Parts: sequence; structure tokens; C-alpha cells
Amino acid sequence: MMERRKFVQTSGLGLIAGIFLPSILLESCKKSTMNMNAFKPVTVKDGLFNTLLPNPTFTNPSDINSLVAQNTTAEIINGKSTSVLGYHNGILGPMIKANNGDAIFIAFSNQLSEETNVHWHGLLIPQIMDGHPDQVVTSGGSYNYQFTINQRAGLYWYHPHPEMKTARQAYMGLASFFIVNDTEESALNLPSGDYEIPLVIQDKRFYGDYSLNYSPDMMDVMNGYFGQYILVNGLFSPYKEIETKWYRIRILNGSTARVYNLALSNGASFYVIGSDGGLLSTPESISSLLLAPGERVDLLIDFTSYSVDTEIFLQSNIFSGASIQGLDQFKILKFKVTKQTTESFTLPSMLSTIFTIPISSNLTTRTWKLGGMGMNSSSGGMGGMNSGGSNMQMNHTINNKTYNSSEILATVQAGSTEIWEIDNSMMNEIHPIHIHGVQFQVVSRTGGRGQLIASEKGWKDTVLLMPDEKVKLIMTFPQHKGKFLIHCHNLEHEDSGMMVNFEIV
Ligand code: C2O
Ligand code: CU
Ligand code: CU
Repeated sequence: MMERRKFVQTSGLGLIAGIFLPSILLESCKKSTMNMNAFKPVTVKDGLFNTLLPNPTFTNPSDINSLVAQNTTAEIINGKSTSVLGYHNGILGPMIKANNGDAIFIAFSNQLSEETNVHWHGLLIPQIMDGHPDQVVTSGGSYNYQFTINQRAGLYWYHPHPEMKTARQAYMGLASFFIVNDTEESALNLPSGDYEIPLVIQDKRFYGDYSLNYSPDMMDVMNGYFGQYILVNGLFSPYKEIETKWYRIRILNGSTARVYNLALSNGASFYVIGSDGGLLSTPESISSLLLAPGERVDLLIDFTSYSVDTEIFLQSNIFSGASIQGLDQFKILKFKVTKQTTESFTLPSMLSTIFTIPISSNLTTRTWKLGGMGMNSSSGGMGGMNSGGSNMQMNHTINNKTYNSSEILATVQAGSTEIWEIDNSMMNEIHPIHIHGVQFQVVSRTGGRGQLIASEKGWKDTVLLMPDEKVKLIMTFPQHKGKFLIHCHNLEHEDSGMMVNFEIV
């Protein structure tokens, strides 16, 4: 509880709360009285798209002598150097590429001035390797992450996970890809090398001198911290030179809160071939796709019919039903066709076999109710404040709980299958919910959009809930025992308490 209060203070929330919070915030958070204009996220600024996005360099985990979380600098915008955090010299970290079956040994050292750890988002590994907030590495300390990869090919990623410090550390630059390949995927001969492009999309704010700014206030904790500047792989407003070929574009939404409705500026359709947990069974043709923080999507884009000098943008389109998000359209990355090349790749009709977990009536079903900031009749610290007899909660909850490291809200059997229903019908906020230690399948969505989207037809570890939505997930828990987390991947929400433990026994 002390800790939660500390977050409120360090965010400057205490001050704001005392002045005007009760009336304005209560009114804005409650479902029926949402005032869109008052809390419209900052408008995104268009850049010039004249910074070249380098081709990716993948790193084999065995070539990583040590992974070091460090204070470093990067040129993100206007060629100005700014202080960031990184897992190497510069923002972000090595793009790790490994194979299923590999034994991973990564010597991690913490050169930050505070505790941190590494969470391998999406990997199915033992609890003590998973970067649970119980397992932090103190400043100056080190830890050996050792695990064997035993899961499908996919675009996984890594980032810090210390209690109440995840948002700031990830925002300041600690995040990167952990790609797993396997024989099934290799056999498809998907575009690779310069034609396989991992992109992490993040939004940032800067101070006037272009130094990176993370200073969430009360509203930012409620809604998420939105930036005016959209970065791709740590660069603002970049362009990518491409040939008239098929490209495999693998996208991670590494933003703390912003959801993107990905589309091409010419309206062309493209194919989703994979999601969080790897390939779908067949390619899905779409013209736009929502991607929430923590989610990944694997796309194939056909550039073969464009002529040299054509410019096409990856952009985010307007979308509805998402409270204050989705109100603007903006560009993310420019594709510039610079070379005519012949292409032999053809889109496979089948990608993978996905075993659909059978739903039977005797499965244990659990419900997780998502709570936003606002009125809560139960009292109890955690930054709560009293306003006229009711308690103002400055946090987000799951089943009315904020994070407590010693509390286990569900105990599940290793190897068992359960149905988890996530219910976002209480408050007018959106929440990308992520589960550690398991990959799940989305069975259904009711309320709100009322259906699944293309990327939800495969294995997932993060799922977006718009206001009024309920999703039903099915999952079989692996043999790794111990405490794992279910939390909101809006990182401001996570750090304001929207995270709970479950235990695999
Ligand atoms: Cu990517 Cu628990 O998070
Ligand atoms: Cu995770
Ligand atoms: Cu949330």
C-alpha cells in the first residue's frame, strides 16, 4: 500500500488530486458521463519521413555475451541526442532470433540506478526466469536467464517488469524482440533477410529540447500516457526503402497505452499470417487491423505491382468504440519503392495447423472483472482519497484488487484446461489484458465489437477489450509451476495496480 502511494506521488498525482480531481475525474471515468473532449489524447504530429530506417540486424542469443540494462543516449528526433535506457548502447536492445529447442543462456546485468528485471513476453518458461516482479535485480546486480525454448515460432519480446516501474523503464527504451523460428515456419520460405522487417511502434513525448519526457499526471494514469511523436524502432518519422517484392512485416505495439488501427495509405489489403503466438492456419486478407499494447502481428504485404518512386504509408486509421482512443488518423512509416526486382514468392494457402482446444462443459471457468479508476465504496489506502463519503480510487483493478505480490487470486493445475472470461463492462476504458506463462485461444467476444478479429484466430497472450466487451479465453497451462501474472498491458494501468497473481501448481 505504501508503494502504491509512492507511485501517486512520483507521478505528481497527489498534487493534482488535491486540487480538482474529485469532480472532474469522477465524472469523466464513469461510463455514462464520459466527456470525450476533455480527455482527448494529444494529437499526433506528422513528420517528414526522411530518416532512413536501417535494415534489421538479428542477434543469435549465443552471441550475446551479456545483456546490460543501462543509461545511454539515442538520436530519436531531429538528430538530437537524448538520454534513454537501453539493453545495449542506444535505445531498445538486440533483436534476438532463436530456434525452438535452443537452450538460452543470457547473462543479464543491471547498470541502472534502480531495480529492474527482464520479462520474456510470450515465452513459456519457468517462473524464476519469467521476470516476475518478485525476481528483481538490484542496481549493480546481475542475473542469469536460462531456459529452453519449447514452443511455436513467433514474435515474442522482452521488457522490464519491476513492480510499478515497468511503464517508465519500458517507455524510456527498455524493450526489444525475441523471435523464435522453427522448422514448420522455415518450410514456408517466407520473405526473410532484408525482406523480413520487425517494427516496434511506440508513441513518445519530448520536452522543448527534444529530450524524452515521461511524466504522467492523473489523467495519463487514467487513460494512458500518449505521445505526439510516433517512433518506429526508436526513430521518429522514418522511411523504408523497398523493392517490388513481398515483405514480411512483423509488428509489435510497444507503446504504453496507444492502440493502432494499422492500414496502408492507399487502402490496399494485406495479409495477416500470424499473431502473438505464431502463425495462423491460413492467411487472412484485411485492409485494417487493431493492434493494442503488447500485441504482435505478422503481416505479408505485396509490393510487386508498384512502380519505382511509389510512396505508401503504414498508418493508423480512425476507429470507434474505444472511448478516447482512435479519434485521429496519422502516419507511422513511409515505404518508398526504390528498386524493381523480380519476385518468385507466392502466398501459401496453408500456413500451419492450429490445434483448437476443445471446449467441454466440465472445464473450470473463472471471471476476471476489470475496474477503472473512479468511485469505489470499499475503502483502503492505495492512493484512495475521501470525497464526500465515497472513496476515490486512483488505481485500476482486477476483481476489485490492485497488485499485491503475496496475494494469489487463482490456483490452477499444471496441464489443466480452463476458460477465463474477462469482463470489461464496468467502466468506460479500454484494456489490453495479458497473461504470463501460457498462450490462449480467444473463443468469443460479446458486447462492443461482438466478434473476433483476424489476428485473434491463432494463439494469443494479449487480448484487447473495448468498453462493454467480454471475451472468453481457453488455455491449457504448461508444467512450469509458480506464480504468474494476469495484467493490463496499458503500462500506466499495470503500474497503478491492474495486475494480479495466479499460481500454477
Ligand atoms: Cu509484456 Cu507482464 O508483460
Ligand atoms: Cu508477458
Ligand atoms: Cu487497462
